[in-house]
Amino acid sequence: MKFFLDTANLEEIRRGVSLGVVDGITTNPTLVAREKRPFREHILEICKIVKDGVVNAEVVSTDTEGILREAREIAGWHPNIVVKIPMIPDGVRALSILSKEGIRVNITLVFSAPQALIVAKAGAYFVSPFLGRLDDISIDGLVLLREIMEIYRAYNFSTQVLAASLRHPMHVVEAARMGAHIGTLPYKVFEQLFKHPLTDRGLQGFLDDWEKARETLGPIFQSAAAPNARR
Ligand code: E4P
Repeated sequence: MKFFLDTANLEEIRRGVSLGVVDGITTNPTLVAREKRPFREHILEICKIVKDGVVNAEVVSTDTEGILREAREIAGWHPNIVVKIPMIPDGVRALSILSKEGIRVNITLVFSAPQALIVAKAGAYFVSPFLGRLDDISIDGLVLLREIMEIYRAYNFSTQVLAASLRHPMHVVEAARMGAHIGTLPYKVFEQLFKHPLTDRGLQGFLDDWEKARETLGPIFQSAAAPNARR
């Protein structure tokens, strides 16, 4: 499963990427607006940080002509950009044209299986079902994800499923169990994936025991014995 970070914050992106398990970034107009910087410049800065990773940047037009214009421009900024387009009829019309031009499109704001079926037929590169926002209105987002995975497998669609709006580690675990290709995580959820209280407690125990026996253990590490030695 690939991990994308769902943020436009450069500090979070730098910190996440330094851990070596981030495969890309998703942004949306809300996340970008929060950073208060020129859109193109900001997205290119993100591309520089994630190097080979994919960067998703979203259009804001809602008519086919406008979406096509913005999508072509955004896609031309950097080879690693995937253009996000909302799941509206004008967006699907634009998707059908852009996919034939070889522009990679992520269809966003997907909340039902029929929507996911349509965008796969129209050639989406990614489909983004929003699990957390469905949970927010008392509809189980994971049920939607399961339906999409089943349909895509039945027809061998090449569209990759990007589980979005993930709110907690169990969303990530369940999405991984279903074989979702990608999960996009807010930085806070990404951090939570690393944590377990038994890991912290266990580590503290090891360090305390080591410290207690320090005198008898001697200088077993080269770096401790010879601080100036070449590494
Ligand atoms: C995905 O690409 C979206 O940016 C995102 O997952 C939306 O999540 P939210 O419901 O936390 O805003």
